[in-house]
Amino acid sequence: MAGIPRDHRRGLDHGRRRRRPRRHPLKEHTVIKPVVVRTHLSLFVRDPETSAAWYADVLGLEVTARGPQWVFLSFGRKHHDIALIQAEDGAAHGGLGLQHYGLEIQGDVDDLRRLYGMLLSKGVKVVKTTDHKVGIGLYFEDPDGNRFELFAETVTDDDEGRRILGEHNAPSEPVELEPLY
Ligand SMILES: [Fe+2]
Repeated sequence: MAGIPRDHRRGLDHGRRRRRPRRHPLKEHTVIKPVVVRTHLSLFVRDPETSAAWYADVLGLEVTARGPQWVFLSFGRKHHDIALIQAEDGAAHGGLGLQHYGLEIQGDVDDLRRLYGMLLSKGVKVVKTTDHKVGIGLYFEDPDGNRFELFAETVTDDDEGRRILGEHNAPSEPVELEPLY
């Protein structure tokens, strides 16, 4: 655990006999809001190595760790942003669960158009392009049919974005996006 600040180690217990935590009654309606600083996504896929190669090629992710049944990938900063886990044989894509995972890009709609051209030139299945009033979304699928969205915000102020999204009831209109090559 070298390198981990002391405070972060407190309360950890590796392998020692697990005791059931004592109940401390919280006041009713107490909310402890997690302060989320980053998210990561973990997906079941048919073949983690095949998918990892696709993620590296299409989204530029780099492999940071791998095990017999998984590959961890990073966009470049964090130890992992996406984990690909071997699904059971014959597993099918279901109707419940993840609908899509959105990735807000740095840049504007022209940067999104360049990414659109890149996806098309790699033969990636692009599902739709959508105007959300606060940004433009470009939806596509990985080799197992997991849907992703690359989106470029056109309203860059978050307070204004929340206001517009609420006022227009989370709009989702098809939009023609011209790919740039
Ligand atoms: Fe989205």
